[in-house]
Amino acid sequence: MKRVLVSGGAGFIGSHVTVELIEAGYDVLVADDMSNCDLTCYEGVKKITGRDDLPFVKMSFCDMEATDKLFSEWKIDAVIHFAAFKAVGESVSDPLKYYGNNLQSFINVLEAAKAHGCRNVLFSSSATVYGEPEELPVTEKSPRQPSTSPYGNTKQICEDILRDSVAAYPQIRGIALRYFNPIGAHPSALIGELPRGVPNNLVPFITQTAIGRRECLSIFGDDYPTPDGTCQRDYIDIVDLARAHVCAVARMLDEKMEQEYEIFNVGTGRPLSVMELVNAFQKVNNLKLNYKIAPRRPGDVTAIWADPTLANEKLGWKATRTTEETLASAWAWEKHLAGK
Ligand code: UD1
Repeated sequence: MKRVLVSGGAGFIGSHVTVELIEAGYDVLVADDMSNCDLTCYEGVKKITGRDDLPFVKMSFCDMEATDKLFSEWKIDAVIHFAAFKAVGESVSDPLKYYGNNLQSFINVLEAAKAHGCRNVLFSSSATVYGEPEELPVTEKSPRQPSTSPYGNTKQICEDILRDSVAAYPQIRGIALRYFNPIGAHPSALIGELPRGVPNNLVPFITQTAIGRRECLSIFGDDYPTPDGTCQRDYIDIVDLARAHVCAVARMLDEKMEQEYEIFNVGTGRPLSVMELVNAFQKVNNLKLNYKIAPRRPGDVTAIWADPTLANEKLGWKATRTTEETLASAWAWEKHLAGK
């Protein structure tokens, strides 16, 4: 059985990917420094999969010695690298924290993968690399724009590190997946997003408002040049997103890659505005949300959505869950957290 190391595997995306990998028949090794999560999702993954013996190593990938030890103690066939800080605002106020952590941990993973014969490296990138796109939808060939935050810049730099490493070292090859806006939770409601403090992202803010933890959702701007004036995004269901990783891992392990470094957009291809999302949330969950229109949030792009054709064709992957299913799952998870 092939083993996949999931760095940052106790987090939101990592835990959903772990479930899908296990269900697809892979052995998974979870590693996480727990700097931005607790054991909730790891325990949830064990419950969902029935794998009470799911191996877990608490470690930081910024620690080269620990990273090297991990790769020498376990035979790892592929690594999916999630372990990174991800708060856009914090990255602006503390850039060195972001550059230090996000770059060093990835460099260490690549060093260890190269040294220990783990050929396959999958990097968790973001649509943030496209900035404010000139043409929509964006394809993988759309130009990257200078990043507006150190966080976004670390995604661009890590993509470049992977591209250059693959070009230089025949021992490794890589795939970068550019996620659009991951939302929702596992249908079991046993794993989901666990924001610390006040959520920055839209859907956790919505669910926390609906449950009564926040008073009112601010919709950041209704004067954008979009059909209803609010920003448009490509919201991708977390389980669909997780399945894209399984397809990408299989592509590597089954020797299906056409180039040594490949990039795929992971999105639905459907734009949804903030207002449309709020309305869909209210409708599917049969509740009324307290919201108001607020000024634009600095740094937000007007509209971005994916052209997912390449992933559809090359990975054999397609988003399947409807917005309604996804928003119902987000709400079920919030209620699960509240013990309701
Ligand atoms: C942001 C980051 C992206 C990161 C992603 C993680 C940027 C420019 N974007 O995407 O890099 O990968 O989070 O999920 O750095 N909104 C409100 N009210 C709120 C919160 C959000 O109206 O309380 C609106 C925003 O203005 C935006 C949309 O909802 O139009 C989505 O926001 P958010 O969930 O924060 O994601 P992005 O900013 O698209």
